[in-house]
Amino acid sequence: MDFRALSSSPALWAETPCDALVVVLNAAQPAQDLAEPVAGLLADALKTGDLALKAGRSLYLHRPAGLRAPRLVFTVAADGSAKAYRTALSAAMQVLKSGAARHLAVTLAPQATWSPAHAHALVGAVEEATYVYRHTKPSAPPAPVVSKVSLLVGKEGLKAVQHDLAQARAIALGVAVAREWANRPGNHCTPTHLADEARRLGKAHGLKVDVLDRKAVEKLGMGAFLAVAQGSEQPLRFIVMRYDGGRRGEAPHVLVGKGITFDTGGISIKPAAKMDEMKFDMSGAASVLGTMRALAELKPRLNVIGLIPACENMPDGRSVKPGDVVTSLSGQTIEILNTDAEGRLILCDALTYAERFKPASVVDVATLTGACVIALGHHHSGLFTADDALAEALQTAGREALDTCWRMPLDEEYDEALKSNFADMGNVGGRAGGAITAAMFLRRFTSKYRWAHLDIAGTAWKSGPAKGATGRPVALLARYLLSQAR
Ligand code: BES
Ligand code: MN
Ligand code: ZN
Repeated sequence: MDFRALSSSPALWAETPCDALVVVLNAAQPAQDLAEPVAGLLADALKTGDLALKAGRSLYLHRPAGLRAPRLVFTVAADGSAKAYRTALSAAMQVLKSGAARHLAVTLAPQATWSPAHAHALVGAVEEATYVYRHTKPSAPPAPVVSKVSLLVGKEGLKAVQHDLAQARAIALGVAVAREWANRPGNHCTPTHLADEARRLGKAHGLKVDVLDRKAVEKLGMGAFLAVAQGSEQPLRFIVMRYDGGRRGEAPHVLVGKGITFDTGGISIKPAAKMDEMKFDMSGAASVLGTMRALAELKPRLNVIGLIPACENMPDGRSVKPGDVVTSLSGQTIEILNTDAEGRLILCDALTYAERFKPASVVDVATLTGACVIALGHHHSGLFTADDALAEALQTAGREALDTCWRMPLDEEYDEALKSNFADMGNVGGRAGGAITAAMFLRRFTSKYRWAHLDIAGTAWKSGPAKGATGRPVALLARYLLSQAR
């Protein structure tokens, strides 16, 4: 997809060479600075009641009189914000994606002040609407033919707009990687497949990739990760990816992604309903792959390491059992009271592994708890960190990328829930505050560096008729890393 900024003004819109003109209206600012023939077409549509200036409404006009473009779409944003812009553009894309328009010319909502978030809104809405999952459904309808989007803006700031669009586009490439891999079913997305994809991305985009197998992981002493993997026929993989854009020896930022390619719950087996959705339990891993892909495109001046512990969580004669005690890479022992709390077990060893890099920061990303979905629903990812500056950086990045997170508590009091009579800790802390006690578990492995945890259980995919991965939080992570570059 080609995105570019085009210097224009309402008086020139009618002459813009394109297949469809998308005019974004602002429900909060009904008085618009429009020129003919668009002004007249809008006035008429409002008069006849075919369009109302209410957020979410849109109207498609075919061969509108006086317009060079053969198609015109009015779409109404709630206000000038990037979030409203994204919603309005998604509505416009709903009508355009099944049509024949290849080149769209899109306006900014009146009174909107341009920001990088607006670039993410535009690129995100178009990419989201034009993605088609095909890997195991080659019969899926052909992808929409939209291939070029021109944003019509004033002369001032054209360069900045162009820059923001290019950045958002690069990040969208990463979002697409995450979305595609998270969507692939468990039998088409095993730990081996993930490692192969990491290697492929490395070759294609100049990232260094190392993959450790079970023997190597045993040698290191990752007892918690091994305990989860031992019940599966699929061999585990521990993936290490490096993007070297900073100075040699400069402390890297580390991303850690939960790579459970299918989570049955293990011996503490899950109920059957919706268990298929546990193919998405490697969304954290997919977001690390996607972010590394975006970095390779963005080329910021910093060093980044992506770590992915990948395995299945299966019930089997060899599976880890409730009550089993294992020794983590950190040396701390863990009583595995519930084998379905497996994410924290594979992450804790990866977090200890991260120490060797003397990182500038470590952010782990995981579909970790159903409790986080109960707490925050599907709009914000859960953010857990004791580091205020890191929290601020991640929250800002999330707002800029329209991929937000909400900070949750991480007070010492919650740690008590992890007490065990038979090990240094149990792996569950009861139902109350389940997302927090999961984060408290991880915290015990992160004392050597600045650390944050993102629980993406509610944001990584959608259920229902639109079931599928979102590619979150690649945009948040990419913008966070950009903010940390020199
Ligand atoms: N992968 C799940 C978390 C999950 C559940 C994500 C539902 C999205 C939707 C995780 O491994 C898990 O099973 N967590 C348990 C923890 C519990 C046993 C303490 C959960 O949330 O029920
Ligand atoms: Mn689980
Ligand atoms: Zn899980």
